[in-house]
Amino acid sequence: MTPTASSHHTTPADSTPTSTTAPTKTPAPAVRLDGISKSYGDSHAVHELSLDIAPGEFFSLLGPSGCGKTTTLRMIGGFTDPTDGTVLLGGEDVTALPPNKRDVNTVFQSYALFDHLSVADNVAFGLKRKGVGRAEIRERVGTMLERVQLGGLGDRKPRTLSGGQRQRVALARALVNRPQVLLLDEPLAALDLKLRRRMQVELKQIQREVGITFVFVTHDQDEALTMSDRIAVMNEGHVEQCGTPEDVYERPSGSFVASFMGTSNLVPGTYRAGRIAVDEGPSLPVGTRAGIADGSRVHLSVRPEKIWLSDFEPGMVLATGVVRETVYSGATTTYLIELAPGITLSVLEQNTARSRMEDRWAGGERVEVGWKPEHCLVLD
Ligand SMILES: Nc1ncnc2c1ncn2[C@@H]1O[C@H](COP(=O)(O)OP(=O)(O)O)[C@@H](O)[C@H]1O
Ligand SMILES: [Mg+2]
Repeated sequence: MTPTASSHHTTPADSTPTSTTAPTKTPAPAVRLDGISKSYGDSHAVHELSLDIAPGEFFSLLGPSGCGKTTTLRMIGGFTDPTDGTVLLGGEDVTALPPNKRDVNTVFQSYALFDHLSVADNVAFGLKRKGVGRAEIRERVGTMLERVQLGGLGDRKPRTLSGGQRQRVALARALVNRPQVLLLDEPLAALDLKLRRRMQVELKQIQREVGITFVFVTHDQDEALTMSDRIAVMNEGHVEQCGTPEDVYERPSGSFVASFMGTSNLVPGTYRAGRIAVDEGPSLPVGTRAGIADGSRVHLSVRPEKIWLSDFEPGMVLATGVVRETVYSGATTTYLIELAPGITLSVLEQNTARSRMEDRWAGGERVEVGWKPEHCLVLD
């Protein structure tokens, strides 16, 4: 799919109301990017990107390093001027407005806290600048510190806090201003894995409580899947696919999204009459696929956890292969199974209370693999 800049916004508000149906009153998107581009010389950091983010949504921009996530976020915040296109916040064109004229706050990866100020004064900073009264500031700062579980730490200096606590100060400092939209650029990247997992859950909880639209940048697909209502998967300055976590994981639009969203098996072959002839390997049924011409070069894709190694059911697609590697990782075991010379399938099995160590396959064994037809995708 190659999206064009103009064909994106098919919300009910765009369709012409008929005499029998009242016009649907959809609220303006919290954020609308309409064909925005940013070029540096000859290189496109972002190219004709369009998307709508609904009010209250937890929306993630996900993609590999250098794909244009930060540039996109900076254009929403007003820190970078688009070369082309329009940025709308709550239906208002803000493309020409500076950051401080936009109802948006940003949490940067570096936190950017004021070290000489106390935690409470850090959080109060924006409210003081806006001229909010002292009593109200004290009340709002206190409430927000409680909400991010920093109650009682208001008098401390940021440098006396842990990484996770500093991260929450930065979050409180942004949220206390009650912006329409909060932009977060890899805010958890500096934390160790365990703390990051906990903060993911906490951040999502806080977002639900305050109901503010979050635009969250990450290169970590697990993080995006865990936290987001919707995800835009980016690649080289454009959006490859935009949808719910389930959409992008279960129904990737192409091989880029399939492989970026966690481990995916991409088996190269040629499509003909409802089958894929794997290169130097078996011919496997995939069902007739509209829009794919006979003779097309394609990838057959099945997620590792959707492949069975035993107890097959009627209607499954079966193939044989040789176990090349068995990787035990505690809760799961991964097998690499060679289907054809140089073509391996990764198969993930849960190690449940009912699975037995001695049932595990050893290297060199010939095995059958199987999957349900609906778990098999044919990608470009
Ligand atoms: N100020 C700049 N000058 C020149 N190139 C830039 C600038 N900012 C970003 N880029 C380039 O634009 C591309 C996208 O960068 P960025 O938005 O930071 O990606 P991401 O956040 O996804 O890692 C990269 O190739 C980067 O080198
Ligand atoms: Mg970045």
